[in-house]
Amino acid sequence: MIINTPPMGWNSWNTFGEEINEKVVMETADFIASSGLKECGYEYVIIDDCWALRERNEKGEMVPDPEKFPNGMRYVADYVHSKGLKFGMYSCGGTMTCAGYPGSYDHEFVDAKCFAEWGVDYLKYDYCYHPETTYGHIVYKRMALALANCGRDIVFAACSWGAENTKAWIKETGAHTWRSTGDINDSWASIKDLAQSQIQKVEYNGNGCYNDMDMLIVGMNGKGNVALTGCTEEEYKTHFAFWALMGSPLIIGCDLRKADESAMKILMNKELIAIDQDKAYRQPWVLNCRREENKVREQETPLYDCYQLDQPAIARFLDNGDIAVGIFNFLDREAKPRVTLDAFGLGECTGKTLELTNVWTGEIEKPRNGTIETKLAPHSCVVYRAKVVDAK
Ligand code: GLA
Repeated sequence: MIINTPPMGWNSWNTFGEEINEKVVMETADFIASSGLKECGYEYVIIDDCWALRERNEKGEMVPDPEKFPNGMRYVADYVHSKGLKFGMYSCGGTMTCAGYPGSYDHEFVDAKCFAEWGVDYLKYDYCYHPETTYGHIVYKRMALALANCGRDIVFAACSWGAENTKAWIKETGAHTWRSTGDINDSWASIKDLAQSQIQKVEYNGNGCYNDMDMLIVGMNGKGNVALTGCTEEEYKTHFAFWALMGSPLIIGCDLRKADESAMKILMNKELIAIDQDKAYRQPWVLNCRREENKVREQETPLYDCYQLDQPAIARFLDNGDIAVGIFNFLDREAKPRVTLDAFGLGECTGKTLELTNVWTGEIEKPRNGTIETKLAPHSCVVYRAKVVDAK
């Protein structure tokens, strides 16, 4: 099974953690279906860790906690499906999940069968408590094999946080997404840290297996399971824009039932969603991390040898010939990054230039002499969809 674009949806972990239950999941599904989020592409309603009883039943199966899910999982899945949405669940490739519930190691086929019977469409698969003697790629191949033989199409979302050089082997397991970061929390420091860590990983993105930068914190406003300080509106905008430009899955993590207008506006930015979901799905590249002039790249050096860029400029070729360009200011002070969109950076040819549409304001700008001059407030960004037009 192949998926053509990174998954979009909602996951319970960031806000609810252990406090997950049927009511939250069903009300969230209602909200996604009625608020316009569904039309924007948000599709998967995913229950993360802590849904099961601590012990398996006598058949060796995992059992949904009857206090949290009194009607069982098939009931919840049917409800989510009745809203035209898809249903996701969570397990772990170790002997226990990260929160100490049963893990799927050595129960892969039993669990995959249950997931299929319950109507699961997406499985997030974590990496805590994996046996020390088993390689990471084997842990994921075991479940991949079980899912591929369970009789139902299930998106396989690997979550080994990049451990054991995940990027080198994850595609061979058949996973559709892989967590290329550690866990996010609701703070600017976390956004910046995760974003900067991706520069070295852009080249692994795409081809049916997408780098997953972790769930969104937009709209959490300092409340919930992974809440810390919370972020400003500008910071949430920068977060969403970076994730979209990098082509990460867009999995909402706030309590949608209480989402404010500002969060909804960010989550429903159609231009950014279109960039994220572009059907050609070409990997992004970094415009302002250039090799030293005339330096030939050694075979083993990483594509980008800039670490912790504080004003990264990211570009992506889109399917219709446009180019997405984002310029970010991770500094705590105003910055004026100048980004040159020249032949070196973009492949621009003589006689042509770019017309830039700002994805937040819709305003159109033209770069002067091929250069975008920006003035960015701390923690802010600008993102354009750039069109190739005739130069005058
Ligand atoms: C790990 C994952 C998180 C979440 C928790 C649940 O930390 O990376 O995304 O699923 O486990 O316990």
